[in-house]
Amino acid sequence: MGNDLEYLKGCMRPEQYEKLAALNNSKLNEFIADSVQLCTPDDVYLCDGSKNEYDTIMAGMVNEGLATDLKARENCFHFRSDPSDVARVEGRTYIACENESDAGPTNNWIYPDKLKGTMRDLYSGCMKGRTLYVIPFSMGPIGSPISKIGFEITDSGYVVCNMHIMTRVGDKVLEALGQGDFVPCLHSVGKPLAEGESDNGMWPCAPVEKKYISHFTEEQKIWSFGSGYGGNALLGKKCLALRIASVMAKKEGWMAEHMLILRLTNPEGKKFHIAAAFPSACGKTNLAMLQSTVEGWKVECVGDDIAWMKMDDNGQLRAINPESGFFGVAPGTNSKTNPMAVKSCEKNSIFTNCVVTDDSDVWWEDGDGECKHGIDWKGREWTPESGEKGAHPNARFTAPAAQCPNVCPDWEDPAGVPIDIFIFGGRRSELVPLVTEAMDWDHGVYMGATAASEKTAAALDSGVAIRRDPFAMLPFCAYHMADYWQHWFDMGDKLGENAPKIFYVNWFQKNEKGKFIWPGFGENSRVLKWMCERVDGKAGAYDTAIGKMPKKEDLDLNGIDLTDEEMDKILSVDTEGWKKELPIVREFFETMGDKLPDRMVAQVDRLEQRLKS
Ligand code: PEP
Ligand code: NA
Ligand code: MN
Repeated sequence: MGNDLEYLKGCMRPEQYEKLAALNNSKLNEFIADSVQLCTPDDVYLCDGSKNEYDTIMAGMVNEGLATDLKARENCFHFRSDPSDVARVEGRTYIACENESDAGPTNNWIYPDKLKGTMRDLYSGCMKGRTLYVIPFSMGPIGSPISKIGFEITDSGYVVCNMHIMTRVGDKVLEALGQGDFVPCLHSVGKPLAEGESDNGMWPCAPVEKKYISHFTEEQKIWSFGSGYGGNALLGKKCLALRIASVMAKKEGWMAEHMLILRLTNPEGKKFHIAAAFPSACGKTNLAMLQSTVEGWKVECVGDDIAWMKMDDNGQLRAINPESGFFGVAPGTNSKTNPMAVKSCEKNSIFTNCVVTDDSDVWWEDGDGECKHGIDWKGREWTPESGEKGAHPNARFTAPAAQCPNVCPDWEDPAGVPIDIFIFGGRRSELVPLVTEAMDWDHGVYMGATAASEKTAAALDSGVAIRRDPFAMLPFCAYHMADYWQHWFDMGDKLGENAPKIFYVNWFQKNEKGKFIWPGFGENSRVLKWMCERVDGKAGAYDTAIGKMPKKEDLDLNGIDLTDEEMDKILSVDTEGWKKELPIVREFFETMGDKLPDRMVAQVDRLEQRLKS
C-alpha cells in the first residue's frame, strides 16, 4: 500500500501526488497505481474540477483537431465520433458475477475472472501515447447521505469534459471521500498511439469485438474498454447510477430508476412530484422540461434521466437526480418541442455528431432554423440535397442542468423531492391509450413490467420492432429482472399508503394516415394535471379492464384541437387487441423462469379475466 503511493510519486505532478498522500485512501492509491501499471500512459493527471482544467483540456482537443470551437455559441464545442461509435452497445455490455442466475436472462453474463483476464490483456499498454486522467466524481450533491462517490480513470479528454458537466467533479469530492469507499471505474478508448501517431480529427475507439462495457456487480466496479460514446464511457451515468446502483438499491432497500423527475405546481401553489420511466427516445427529456399549456399550472425540472429514491423517516419516498447535466438527443429538439433544452445548451455545452454550419454553429434535423450548407457528422460537406441526414439520429448535447430555465430552484436539495406519482410509458402507434391509472400498486408494477416501445436510435443493436422494456430498465437492471420486479413489490409493501399512484401513458398513437393523434409536448401537461387531481381525489375516472381511465370531460381539453372521434380513439380500450397481448406477455414472463413472482402471474390472470367479462 505504501508501495502504491511510492509508485505514484514517480509518475505524478508533485502537487497532485501530495493530495493523494494527504488523503491516504489506500483503495484509491491502489486503484490508480494498478491502472497506471497496466495501461502504461505517457502522463498521469488528477482532475481538480476547475474551469481552468476544463478550458485547458478542451483547448488541447481543439488544437489536435478533435473538437471544433463553435464561434456562434459561448464556450461550446463540437465533437465527431468514429462512425461506428455512436451509441450504447448492448451486445457488448456485460454483467460479471459469480452465478449466472444472479444476472438473469436479460443480461450478458460472464464469469468475473474470465472477463478480467480478457480485459487485462486489452488494457495492457492501451494508454500508450495518452494521458491517464483520474476523475473524482460524486453522483448526487457532494456530501449528501444518498450520494455515491466514484473515480473514473480514462484516457479521453472528451470524457473528462463531459463528466465535468454531468457529475460533480474534483477536489470537493476528495474531501468528501476521506478514507471512505467509492466505485472504481476504469475506462479506455482502446487505441494506443504509436510514436508520432495522432487521432486524425475523430475520437478513437476499438473495433466492436474488442469493446467491453463491464460491470462487476459483487465487487461494485466498472471496466469499460473500446468506446468513447456517452453511455459507454461516462461511467457515472448508466454504468454507476443505474447498473451498479440497481444492485446496491436492491440490497439496501431503495430504488435506482431510469426516470425523469419533475415538479408540477397547481394554481393554489400545491406541489406534486412525478417520476417517469420511458425507454430511450420516447421524449423523456422533453417531458422533464415541459412547458405547461394549462393555465396556472407550472412545471419545473429536477432531472431528465435517472432517479435515486429512498424512504425518509416519515415513510415518504424521496427522489434525487444523481446527475448535474443533461446528455440529451439533439435531433428533434427545437424551440417548439423543448424550448428549455434549447436554452440549456446555448452556452457551456458540448455537442456530438451534429452538423457544423458555415457560421460555426451546430444544426440537426428537426432543430431550429435551416442549414443550407455545413459539415456533417461524418466530417463531409453537407447540404439538404445530400440525401443523407446531416446529424446522426443519436447526436447529443451535453448541458449543465443549472442552465435549464425551469430547473427547480431546489433541484440540488440533498433531501430530494417527495414522489406522488410514477408514470410508465412507451412509444406505441396502436392499442395503448393516452393514459391509464393502475388499480393498485401491484397492477402498477405489472404496467411497469410489461412496458414496451417501438425502436430507438440510442442503442446500436436493439433489434425487433416492439421491444418489451420493463420499467425502461431492460438495458440497465444489472441483476435478475424477476428479482427486480419482486423489489418493486417489496417497496410497495414498505411504502403502504404512502406509495405513489402509478399511471401508464402513450403519447404516440397514430391515425390511419400515420399521423400522431395527440399533439404531445406541452399539451401533455393536461394529462399530468388529471393525474395530480386524481391524487387529490378531485378528478373522475372509470374502471376498464386495463385500469382506471378518464372520460373526455375528466380531462382539461380547453383549446385542444382534436375531434370527438380522435379523443374517443385515444381514450378507448380495444378489448380484442389487448387479448392478443396476453400470450405475448405470458411468453415474455416465461423467459424469467422460476424467479417470476406469483404476484406478477396473478396480475396477468386477473387482466385476462377482466378482458373476458
Ligand atoms: C446514453 O446512451 O448515454 C444515454 C444517455 O442513453 P439514453 O438516452 O438512452 O438514456
Ligand atoms: Na465557442
Ligand atoms: Mn436514459
